[in-house]
Amino acid sequence: MSARLTGKVAVVTGGARQIGFAVATRFAAEGASVVLAQRTESEGAAAQAAIRATGGKATSVVCDVADEESVAAAFDRAVELYGAIDIVVNNAGTGVAEHITDLSWEDYRRVIDINVGGVLLGTKYGARAMRASGAGGSIINISSIQGVLPLRQSAVYAGSKGAVNLITQQTAADLGPFGIRVNAIAPGYIDNEMMHGFHDLVSETPGEAIGAAKRSIVLGRLGRTDDIAGPALFFASDDSAYVTGTLLLVDGGSQSHGAIA
Ligand SMILES: NC(=O)c1ccc[n+]([C@@H]2O[C@H](COP(=O)([O-])OP(=O)(O)OC[C@H]3O[C@@H](n4cnc5c(N)ncnc54)[C@H](O)[C@@H]3O)[C@@H](O)[C@H]2O)c1
Repeated sequence: MSARLTGKVAVVTGGARQIGFAVATRFAAEGASVVLAQRTESEGAAAQAAIRATGGKATSVVCDVADEESVAAAFDRAVELYGAIDIVVNNAGTGVAEHITDLSWEDYRRVIDINVGGVLLGTKYGARAMRASGAGGSIINISSIQGVLPLRQSAVYAGSKGAVNLITQQTAADLGPFGIRVNAIAPGYIDNEMMHGFHDLVSETPGEAIGAAKRSIVLGRLGRTDDIAGPALFFASDDSAYVTGTLLLVDGGSQSHGAIA
């Protein structure tokens, strides 16, 4: 095992499942102590057990990324548990697929509070801990291809991820002087419930949107959650020591949204 993150402490929001879990599992395999920060205790406990079963270090902490007190408490707990925070992955996210004329204000608030507020709060409290330790750190925001190539019926989701991209650049500027790097990953079509749920809603024929998306991918397949783990490891490790404020598309080379663009 190469153990590129030995001695590092990583907080992964929404780390109990799918992309967050793939990233957390990879970080633990590389020697990091991982704090899985997610909403439900049961999901967190199962993910913690799964990582520990492989010999990794992981602890689950309940955290609602849209609630400042909850984020502050979760990040305090991470420092209490492991002594510092070196890496934050702002992964927790949610979506809504709705035509702008039907969009509810509740959905707008939920998506913006989680996708934008969650990134801001994770960055705020992660960066505070990193400044306190004086050792710098790496913050990784999980954006989306939709922050670059918006799909129809995604005004709020795409807008939230576009905001994440700019917040990444802006906070990289704020935090660079403290040795804290901030980068974003924009996953393309990762083959899981979130993606299928969204794409089924934006197309009238089941599977049409996924088919169109697939045809637009240069590498010819949908992504897997594991496809995000390697790029996240790159940003977390010293291999990217001179990289900050960037957005890395991890999308198999998506060129458009195909027939439904
Ligand atoms: N699946 C895709 O194709 C895809 C593509 C691009 C970007 N993304 C992004 O990747 C990230 C992970 O998504 P996923 O595909 O693993 O889907 P997912 O729905 O399985 O994961 C989202 C995670 O965020 C957590 N979460 C949601 N609201 C939260 C809150 N208020 N507080 C704490 N945790 C909360 C969920 O519990 C879950 O663990 C999201 O930011 C998503 O927007 C996904």
